[in-house]
This record gives sequence, C-alpha cells and structure tokens, in this order.
Amino acid sequence: MDANAPILFFDSGVGGLSVLAEARCQLPKAPIVYAADSAGFPYGTKTEAELAARVPALLGRLVERYHPRLAVIACNTASTIALAHVRAALEIPVVGTVPAIKPAAELSRTRVIGVLGTEATVRQPYVDDLTARFAADCEVLRHGSAELVQLAETKLAGQPVDAAAITAAVGPLADRNDMDVVVLACTHFPLLADELRAALPQAVQVDGAAGIARRIAFLTDGQQWPVQPPEGIAVFTGASPSPILAQALAAYGLNRIHHL
Ligand code: DGL
Repeated sequence: MDANAPILFFDSGVGGLSVLAEARCQLPKAPIVYAADSAGFPYGTKTEAELAARVPALLGRLVERYHPRLAVIACNTASTIALAHVRAALEIPVVGTVPAIKPAAELSRTRVIGVLGTEATVRQPYVDDLTARFAADCEVLRHGSAELVQLAETKLAGQPVDAAAITAAVGPLADRNDMDVVVLACTHFPLLADELRAALPQAVQVDGAAGIARRIAFLTDGQQWPVQPPEGIAVFTGASPSPILAQALAAYGLNRIHHL
C-alpha cells in the first residue's frame, strides 16, 4: 500500500465533513480527498433509480483519479440506496453510513426514538430492517427534511441560521416529549447539533460518525501513512465554493480545491 494513497470521503455536499472530523481525530496522518457532488445536490429529494446510477459512476471516476486506499460514503441517503452497487463497482473497501438506530435503541429509556434524515433515507427498506433488528420494542418516529440539509449548507457558507426555520423543519418530532433519543440520520445534521438541541431539548442526539471512524481505523490498521500528511483536497462536481465555504473547508484540513 502506497503511504500517500488517500482516504476518499463522498457526500452530496458538506455533510460528510461531520464524518471526516471524527476520522481525522483517529487517523491524523491520513491523506484526505473529500468529494462533494455539488452538481447533484441535494440527494434527499432524488429517486432511488437516479442515485443508484449516479453514485457508483461518480465514485468510479474519483477512484480512477485519486487512487484511494478506501472510500467512505459519508452520506446516509447514498449509502442506504447505493452501497451495494458501489461495492460491486469498486475494488477497494467501501465504508457506508447508515442510520445509528442500534446505539439509539440501546440508549433509550422511554423506548421512543426519532430518526431524522432526508425524505429518501427515511423511506428506505434499510431503515425498516435496522428497526426490526435493533429497535423492535421501540416506537420509531421517522421524519425527513430537505430544509435541514439546506440549512446546514447555509451555516457552512457563513450565513445565519434561523431558529424558527429549524423548529419548523423538525416538524412533529418537536411535539413528542417522550422521545428521549434522536438519530441524526443525515450527515449534514451534526453540523446543526446546537440548533437541533435547542429545537429538540428532550432528546439525546446519536449519529454514526464515531463508529465509522473506528471502522476506518480497523480497515487501515497496520498500513503506512506519510510522515507529514499532504494538504487535504476538496473536489466539487459543480460550482466552486464561495470564499467563506473555502475557509470552512480549510478548517477541516481541506486546503486545495479541485473539480471533477
Ligand atoms: N448528507 C446526506 C445524507 O447523509 C444527503 C443530504 C442531501 O443531499 O439531501 O443523507
């Protein structure tokens, strides 16, 4: 394994940064390529067929260009729909992001948990399956929101996020005082953790980032890393990031901007 081979993170936008941040803590020397499919954003309002075709094709192009040692689909929507297709198309290990229903069910005392994701994620059979396996004795409240995804992008772009818009976006979950755990089942949502805590004060938040970071560390155990990691690369499929977003990316170690 080439010590300079990067780990590739993939999302529709900035959401995967919440996963990258955890992974960087575990693997500070790993070279990073972070790809945002900004031309395809948002994923949560797309059909299964669109994403099952788009995501593996894009990852194939990214792998050809950057030769990563491992790919992380840092997006619940893409993972719950296209993970099997991506694994079939690539020869490297692929780590997916799926709703953290298992740890949520382990934590809940009231046995009422929320699953807050995109509209596409919350309707997936993958979620039915996780619920049946790990939370069969829980009431699982699913809520999909495209607005929250956009609000996370707005925040990273340096614009103010309106608390009333967050409250409106969490919809009926806000009225469930018996919901003691909420799964942030979209990687954009941990970027709004404080805002969501204010809108849903009754619920502890759970997401998959720490588990994914542990999985990456496990899969790369014993591999070589560069002594000094190179600057991280952010790849966009659409328009260039604004200067403020570029600054936010730099805070995650992504100092170079590429286009696909
Ligand atoms: N970050 C994504 C997820 O985890 C997708 C958001 C979107 O593009 O709708 O589901």
